[in-house]
Amino acid sequence: MSAVTTDAPNTTRPQAGPVVTAKGLTRHYEVGGGLFGKPKTVRALSELDFELTPGRTLAVVGESGCGKSTLARVVTLIEEPTRGDLSIDGTKATPDAWKSLRSKVQIVFQDPYGSLNPRQRIGQILMEPLLINRPQMPAAEREEKAREMLRLVGLRPEHFDRYPHMFSGGQRQRVAIGRALMLEPEVLVLDEPVSALDVSIQSSVLNLLIDLQERMQLAYLFISHDLSVVRHVADDVTVMYLGRAVETGPKDMIFDNPQHPYTKALLSATPRADPEAGKERIKLQGELPSPLAVPPGCAFAPRCWKAQDKCRAARPLLDGATQKSACFFPEGDGTASPEAPKS
Ligand SMILES: Nc1ncnc2c1ncn2[C@@H]1O[C@H](COP(=O)(O)OP(=O)(O)O)[C@@H](O)[C@H]1O
Ligand code: SF4
Ligand SMILES: [Mg+2]
Repeated sequence: MSAVTTDAPNTTRPQAGPVVTAKGLTRHYEVGGGLFGKPKTVRALSELDFELTPGRTLAVVGESGCGKSTLARVVTLIEEPTRGDLSIDGTKATPDAWKSLRSKVQIVFQDPYGSLNPRQRIGQILMEPLLINRPQMPAAEREEKAREMLRLVGLRPEHFDRYPHMFSGGQRQRVAIGRALMLEPEVLVLDEPVSALDVSIQSSVLNLLIDLQERMQLAYLFISHDLSVVRHVADDVTVMYLGRAVETGPKDMIFDNPQHPYTKALLSATPRADPEAGKERIKLQGELPSPLAVPPGCAFAPRCWKAQDKCRAARPLLDGATQKSACFFPEGDGTASPEAPKS
């Protein structure tokens, strides 16, 4: 099967089981310290569980600093988790297995200007992953695959010999997406892929991603702070707050019936995503606390209009059937979470 040269959907995978399984995925950073100071722990990502399935999109949303890019780096094997398990295609992603697994998971970054080498022509940029990872491939085949990819991402044959500065932001992001697909990955991690683009061209890039997913049965981990974008592309949604999932489930359930107060506040601040909720905008109090000092109990309590003593004393576990939330006093018909065991 060649994802680059076929127009037909990938039919080699017999069933749509998960291609990525993450359990308790945690990434903490030790900072400071030195001669006299004690190092502090940045809790960037804590105990995240999720699955990525061929042909489906899991969107991860949350404010800047909640751990989204940390998650992206861990899933693309750029960084090792501090704790937790990550399996890709049934293989546990230990550092020993990274080399063999790396080409299965590729990433597209937010900045289409910074992520392309300005001195390389578009053709070279597209061929480079093959040159590095499949050095035995004949040059003519490499070029043919790159030209085919150019077409797949909606660019023209004459673009092959041009430089990145000759392109718009949207076109550059198409090149970045094409480059990520050259090794025929099974998973694409998209870290704010349209956030740097003009709103007028965001939807054309999103539609390209949707089209490529269908064609190649790619599993997407789609990271965004923008719920209107998420509504456009997601099948499932995970809402993160200070490194933890506070709500997760099918997109329609999350958008129509948010159970966690934080999800409700995010939705209310996104009029395009939910005109109804836009009528009563919930203004969150205070700033997002630092992941160096995650508040005890429910980390959202200092900003939550429903917080009670229990919320500051214990941490609510993410719990539920299809839609799960982590809250003692959830919205709508959500059931109250149990307390996490004291650590
Ligand atoms: N290498 C690192 N060392 C220390 N802290 C880090 C490192 N990478 C990220 N962080 C911190 O982890 C938190 C989450 O960052 P990030 O994953 O970039 O969030 P997001 O992508 O949601 O904005 C931030 O407080 C950030 O400063
Ligand atoms: S547990 Fe309490 S503080 Fe946390 S979100 Fe629910 S109501 Fe708010
Ligand atoms: Mg980020």
